[in-house]
Amino acid sequence: MDSIEIIGGERLSGEVTISGAKNAALPIMAASLLARGVTVIHRVPRLRDIDTMLRIFHHLGVRGEFIDEDTLEIDATTITDCSAPYDLVRKMRASVLVLGPLLSRLGQARVSIPGGCVIGPRPIDLHLKGLEGLSARVDIEHGYVNATGSPLIGAEIYLGGRYGSSVGATINLIMAAAMARGTTTIIGAACEPEVVDLCEFLNLMGAKVSAMGSPRITVEGVDELQPVEYTIIPDRIEAGTYLLAGALTGGLLTLRGARADHLDSLIEVMREVGIEITREGELIMVRATGDLKPVDIATLPYPGFPTDLQAQMMVLLSAVPGISVIIEKVYPERFMHVPELNRLGARISLEGAAALVRGGRRLSGAPVMASDLRASAALILAGLVADGKTTVRRVYHLDRGYERMEEKLTALGANIKRVEDG
Ligand code: UD1
Repeated sequence: MDSIEIIGGERLSGEVTISGAKNAALPIMAASLLARGVTVIHRVPRLRDIDTMLRIFHHLGVRGEFIDEDTLEIDATTITDCSAPYDLVRKMRASVLVLGPLLSRLGQARVSIPGGCVIGPRPIDLHLKGLEGLSARVDIEHGYVNATGSPLIGAEIYLGGRYGSSVGATINLIMAAAMARGTTTIIGAACEPEVVDLCEFLNLMGAKVSAMGSPRITVEGVDELQPVEYTIIPDRIEAGTYLLAGALTGGLLTLRGARADHLDSLIEVMREVGIEITREGELIMVRATGDLKPVDIATLPYPGFPTDLQAQMMVLLSAVPGISVIIEKVYPERFMHVPELNRLGARISLEGAAALVRGGRRLSGAPVMASDLRASAALILAGLVADGKTTVRRVYHLDRGYERMEEKLTALGANIKRVEDG
């Protein structure tokens, strides 16, 4: 298993290009299963999660491959299997996104139930509720969801959950409703930019989705969808991670290709901390100069502060003198990075779903263990400012979601390298 070694203390400076959004690419890949023929998707990041989805496609009898650096071609002319097996689903929860398209296209789907994961329990009850709302029959057998139903029938479906809206359940339901008979109204839909991107893609294919980006989405069913060529949005979580890295190291960093309008909550909070963020066309510049102040934040569904930036934000707040509070409202147990950050000298205590960050202490390098994707990015950020050497183990988590992070950081002046286990 590879590790990443960082010698802290370098200020980041220069320009970094943001990759395509993993969380938009995965649902758009799944939605390509709805059309017979060849779909072409541009700006797809080279990540382990994308490879896992391609392995599922292979299992379904669907050809999918990169035809250049970031262009994916998917040929879903025929689908020979309707199942996603446990071995692949356990590697990536987003595998469950093939449920809606397979059911819609084949009238049946069999997808392994993803287990819990290190960021806490992650049920799929809302995904199933959505499909049942379209008159599908859903049974759980031997660890698999078996869904059948043809035709699916449009309906009004309330999809809000205990922790607010669900990105994945909204996406699965929209995909299943796109070719259902009649109109579907989703109440309590997720508003994330990745949901909007999927809807734009579906509409280009011939679907009739409206009011995406709002909590009440309407999907008018059509008979058929056509394969198309599409470019996905830039990754707002990768962009946010680099903004935080720039601020943390006191550098002057420019992001190219990011969408500032997808980062409003982060930019607002960072400005409150005292960090300067400016925009010029498709560039976003970050600079930390004067005194920084602690803040209190809560993670929330979009447009609230993203849970996927909570760990990285915590590292920045560890460097800011004073007490900051972070409340995790989307995944109340998503704090596996806290003991690791404390090993580096941070002073963070947990009280239920709240983290109290006593900031302003200098971090000192040590070996640490990455527990999940965003936690690994946070530990790398911490290593950038810690004294001496930090070794982040289990970086395979990082490879699931950050494209060439160590290369991008090296180009910005960081002292970082990947160490392959012999
Ligand atoms: C997506 C993102 C993930 C991000 C998360 C929240 C992808 C591939 N992943 O995950 O990076 O952290 O949104 O922004 O896009 N829930 C239920 N029942 C369900 C589904 C979800 O109770 O059936 C709960 C979850 O446990 C969680 C909350 O709803 O507490 C939000 O989860 P959801 O939006 O579904 O996350 P994902 O789509 O899995």
